[in-house]
Parts: sequence; structure tokens; C-alpha cells
Amino acid sequence: DKDILILAIESSCDETAAAVVKNGRFVLSNVISSQIALHTLYGGVVPEIASRKHIEKINQVIKEALKEAEVSLEEIDAIGVTYGPGLVGALLVGVAEAKAISYAAKKPLVGVHHIEGHVSANFIEHKELEPPFLCLIVSGGHTHLVVVQDYGKYEIIGRTHDDAAGEAFDKVARAIGLGYPGGPKIDKLAREGNKYAISFPRAHIADAPYDFSFSGVKSAVLNHLNSCEMKKEEINRADIAASFQEAVVDALVTKTLMAANDLKLSKVAMAGGVAANSALREAMEAGCKQRGITLYYPSPILCTDNAAMIGAAAYYEFLRGTRHGLDLNAIPNLKI
Ligand code: KG4
Ligand code: ZN
Repeated sequence: DKDILILAIESSCDETAAAVVKNGRFVLSNVISSQIALHTLYGGVVPEIASRKHIEKINQVIKEALKEAEVSLEEIDAIGVTYGPGLVGALLVGVAEAKAISYAAKKPLVGVHHIEGHVSANFIEHKELEPPFLCLIVSGGHTHLVVVQDYGKYEIIGRTHDDAAGEAFDKVARAIGLGYPGGPKIDKLAREGNKYAISFPRAHIADAPYDFSFSGVKSAVLNHLNSCEMKKEEINRADIAASFQEAVVDALVTKTLMAANDLKLSKVAMAGGVAANSALREAMEAGCKQRGITLYYPSPILCTDNAAMIGAAAYYEFLRGTRHGLDLNAIPNLKI
């Protein structure tokens, strides 16, 4: 059988990325131009700046991806691109670029759901992983528990009622003066703190056992900071980071394991930026081991936004016959 080469493009938030992926699982190149340093100046992603940076970088990033893979555009079988969800102006840059290449080079266009990309990051380093499995998707914009029934076939069984897990990390990090992006900074600082120092709440949602809520724990951190200030008590940022992280990790692990148990799924995967969190990995690893569940998660570089994961997802969509026309649009709130 002939190899299928996908040129993938990702521009949904603050990374301009392109990759060449062979047969959905072999990454020939994975180029990421991060805007994080730029957005750090503003304490978070500024949508218009993100769009402007994408348009500046995207051609160079694609050129590098092809060069690194030692693949010419003629050899590519299809163009995969994230068309939602994400920031509309940011998405439009990647979508317009992919459409232009598809038209000029006469290559099929495959629009990819960003979250399907995150899930598919697991296929790259775990060649043996195949559906069905349960996937916990935890990123800056999403917190979902999904049953991956087959390639491209998902059933969402749990979701957040308010903040996404990564969003909570970022907001708490800002509140304790750690800056953006907060996830990795809390992860690091928490190692110096006591996770049992402060008992932050875990949300229980009636009638929706697999759903999440992180606004309560976020508010509890803010209240704790206020009360320390009023009582003129010293603020221990490492203890706050560790205790906050413990509350989030506990909720994520408990609900994921409960779902795996209820649905009798023996494989669990994690995806998205927060899946890079070291405490989450450790706790999920321990919980899965105890129950005889096999746990999968990508390397940190494949957890956060990248185009290799879009190439992996695009491959399976391509096999399923998904093709988009030149009228493909960016859909900021695209449903899975
Ligand atoms: O998946 P991602 O790169 O972008 C979205 O699609 O949202 O996720 C970014 C999120 C940010 O909220 C960031 O703070 C969080 O992932 N994150 C982490 C870690 N690394 C990134 N959160 C906790 N611990 C980490 N090590
Ligand atoms: Zn993402």
C-alpha cells in the first residue's frame, strides 16, 4: 500500500504550526512558532495580535515543515487544517492558507476539529493504541471526557460547566503573580509546596457524575488570598499552587477512573496542554495501575498545540473520506 503524506496546519490560538505526517502516526516534521513570549507581555492571549503573528509566520513555518521532512508539495496527498474551535481570526489564517495550497497544488483539503487533533496526538507515540478508549481532554479551552469509539467517532460523556482546567490554572497563576501561561508555572512551583496545606473544594455535580466545574476552586483560591491579606498572614504561594493543583487533579482523576470503571474501558488516554502536568500524570498513572487500566499520554510537546496531532487526525478523516471544499470556513465554536 502507498504511504499517505499529510501536510498539516494549526493556527487556532497562539502557536503557528505546520507538520508533515506519514500514515497518521509517523511525524516527518513538526514545526512550531510560539507567540507565548509576545502574549506574556499582556498576561494572556490577545486575539488580534495572534492573527497578525500567524499571517507573518505561516508561510515560513510551512516551508520549514516541508524542508525538514524532505518532502515536496507535489508528494503530499492532502492538506489538513484546524478549522475550529478556537479564535476566529487566528483560525482564518490557517484555513485561508490551507485553501490556497489546496487550490494551487490541486490537493484534497481535510478540515480537522482541534480537539480531535489533541486526542490523535496519542496515536503518534503509541503505535499500538486503537479505539475504543476513554480520553480525558484537558486544555486551555476544553475539559471533556470522551469515549473514542472508533477513529473519528466520539461520544462526549463529561464536560466542564464553567472554566476549562487549563483556564483555571492560568487564572490562579495570575492571581498568585506567576504570569502566563500559568499551567507549567504552577506545576513547577507546586513541587516546593505542601498539597495538603489548604483544603480547596472539589465540585460534585448532581445527576452528571462525569461533569466538571473549576470556578469554585478558583474562587476559593481568590478568597484564601483575600483572607490572608486581611489577616495580614503570610501568603505561601507554593502551598497554594500545590493545594490548588491537588484539587484539580483529584477531580480529573476520580471522574476519569469512575467513567472507565462504569463503561468497562481498559484503556485511558489524556490529551491537551494540562495532560503535560506532572501531578496529573503521576496520579492518573497510580490510579490506572491499581485498576489494571493501561494509560496513554503524549510527550509534553505533543500535549500542547502542534500540527503533528492535526496531521494524525487528518489522516484518519482522509481515510474515512472527509473532504472539504474551498468554501471551508473557520468555526470558532465547532462542536465535536
Ligand atoms: O492544549 P493547549 O496547548 O491549548 C488549547 O487548546 O487550549 O493548552 C494550553 C493550556 C494552558 O491553559 C496551559 O496553562 C496548560 O495548557 N498547561 C498546563 C501545563 N502545560 C500547559 N497546565 C498544567 N500543567 C502543565 N504542565
Ligand atoms: Zn489545543
